[in-house]
Amino acid sequence: MPRPYEEALAAFWHPVAFSRELNERPLAFRLLGVDGVVWRTASGVAATQRYCAHRGADLCDGEPVGEGLRCAFHGWTYGVDGGCVRVPSQLSAPISQKARLAAYRCAERYGLIWVCLSATPSAPLPEWPELEDGALATVALPLLDWDVSAGRMMEIVLDVAHLSWVHRGTFGNPEQQEVPAYDVERHASGLRTRIVYPALGPSIGGAPPRVDKTTLTYDVTLPFSVRLEFKPTLFYTHTVYAVAQPLSEEKMRCFYFCSYHPKIRNFGEMFVKSELAILEQDRRIAEGQRPKAHPLGFDGEVHVKADRLPIEYRRAMAALRLGQAPDDPRME
Ligand code: FES
Ligand SMILES: [Fe+2]
Repeated sequence: MPRPYEEALAAFWHPVAFSRELNERPLAFRLLGVDGVVWRTASGVAATQRYCAHRGADLCDGEPVGEGLRCAFHGWTYGVDGGCVRVPSQLSAPISQKARLAAYRCAERYGLIWVCLSATPSAPLPEWPELEDGALATVALPLLDWDVSAGRMMEIVLDVAHLSWVHRGTFGNPEQQEVPAYDVERHASGLRTRIVYPALGPSIGGAPPRVDKTTLTYDVTLPFSVRLEFKPTLFYTHTVYAVAQPLSEEKMRCFYFCSYHPKIRNFGEMFVKSELAILEQDRRIAEGQRPKAHPLGFDGEVHVKADRLPIEYRRAMAALRLGQAPDDPRME
């Protein structure tokens, strides 16, 4: 039997905010059906349940003090482990053991705040060392709030066959409908694939767009992160990072950003404009898919070899839920 969605995914790190959003005020988040709050402490970041153990006040209205968080209603103060350390209305009395919030693991990396709801994460954060050596510039899109499961979103990002259909009018090449065979490598934390796609470059000065043989390298870190490098011949190499936050089994929010060589002028503006148009094409398709939850099995839909990468992803996610090695998917 597969473990329930929330239980199986609670042991992974998920993004809950861009770092730049978390300032001096605590910030609410929703993750796998849990309402939480994150705040900056004197030494880092911390996360607990959102509502105060005393009278259920919203701790987003509270105030970070040193390592802890003070509730706005009666000033009870909680430490990063969730334990109450101060009850101002009766300072000399012992503090009840029940005065405690659920506390979560919290980390800050790659310009994101990450939370793991379980005390022991079963996998580390994705490894993207190029984002930490300072050699690349990055630009982020506004948050993508799609009415779709994180697994469905991942599958559309990993879908090779849709490029020539869904992305007509942006970079998709309607002349290239067949998908040449490609391999998918499995590794300890995810999947890796490389394909070459004859993308259409931007049309310049009214001239017809030129075909640009683009090498796409997909690197998946389970459960919901993908790094996708675009290496065109006529345009700039850039790398996109899509990291989904599963709000529930049927709804996600995606943090989407890109790294590029800092000498490329105006890249950030160009990227945001063109990427939002591309992602809007994906959103319309993904939100229309049923069932909304990411199917765990292979029976309800039909699979062909061109779907190899999304199939491998689904198989890996099914294994994660089942806690066992998946069988070969059925393909026609
Ligand atoms: S409700 Fe938070 S201190 Fe009373
Ligand atoms: Fe797409």
